[in-house]
Amino acid sequence: MRTPVMAGNWKMYKTPAETTAFFEKFRPLVEKSEHCEIVICPPFANLGAAVDAVKGTRVCVGAQNIAWDREGAFTGEVSGPMLVAVGATHAIVGHSERRQYFGETDETVLQRTEAALEAGLTPIVCVGERLEDREHGATKTVLTAQFTRGIAGLTVDQFAKIVIAYEPVWAIGTGKTATPEMAAEAHRMIRGQVWAKYGSGPATSVRILYGGSVKPDNVKSLMAQPEIDGVLVGGASLDPVGFASIVNF
Ligand code: PGA
Repeated sequence: MRTPVMAGNWKMYKTPAETTAFFEKFRPLVEKSEHCEIVICPPFANLGAAVDAVKGTRVCVGAQNIAWDREGAFTGEVSGPMLVAVGATHAIVGHSERRQYFGETDETVLQRTEAALEAGLTPIVCVGERLEDREHGATKTVLTAQFTRGIAGLTVDQFAKIVIAYEPVWAIGTGKTATPEMAAEAHRMIRGQVWAKYGSGPATSVRILYGGSVKPDNVKSLMAQPEIDGVLVGGASLDPVGFASIVNF
């Protein structure tokens, strides 16, 4: 049995005051939600406000990125030890928007994943194909390359501590959700890669989340797929009532 992870990625939305207001509404709605782990990933500037707001609850706070080094001359980066010091427990790594707009590669995704693990954070490592990849029948090739060049650099002990998120780029923020069957098929491909590299134990226990236009009205059918172990939600995680209904699918 894999415990589902219901994660929200706020991207570049909300101020600290809006963060506090979100949690005032969200907290009571998920008080009894013990069937899953809940992670909210606000922008760096709101991590402190989020950590204060979730004290005494089961809700975890994660960052949307993490530097590959502990400290140094890396303007604009935030390191694992800094995130831990502020109270974060998770970090998204390799989100497609980082890959697309900020030059993130499979190699830097691996470095950042290792940095998160070294700091004691749970990395949520994102993979996913673009629309043109899917149209050219290259979904498996792309997912395999992202896995082989990125995640597969981890040791078996490191791998045991990560969460994977499958996010087809064409489904992110577009309103086009992968059908539950399409998502499950991609999850099976990824789990197959894990099996080939790390064996049956890790392949059975790793949580693979689906992300891309997850909404309150489609979460149930996605989560009905045994392959889907949770969701990574962008737009629909900004509203406390909507995201609580996703968590409580
Ligand atoms: P979306 O974003 O739910 O707004 O499509 C998902 C994500 O980017 O993690």
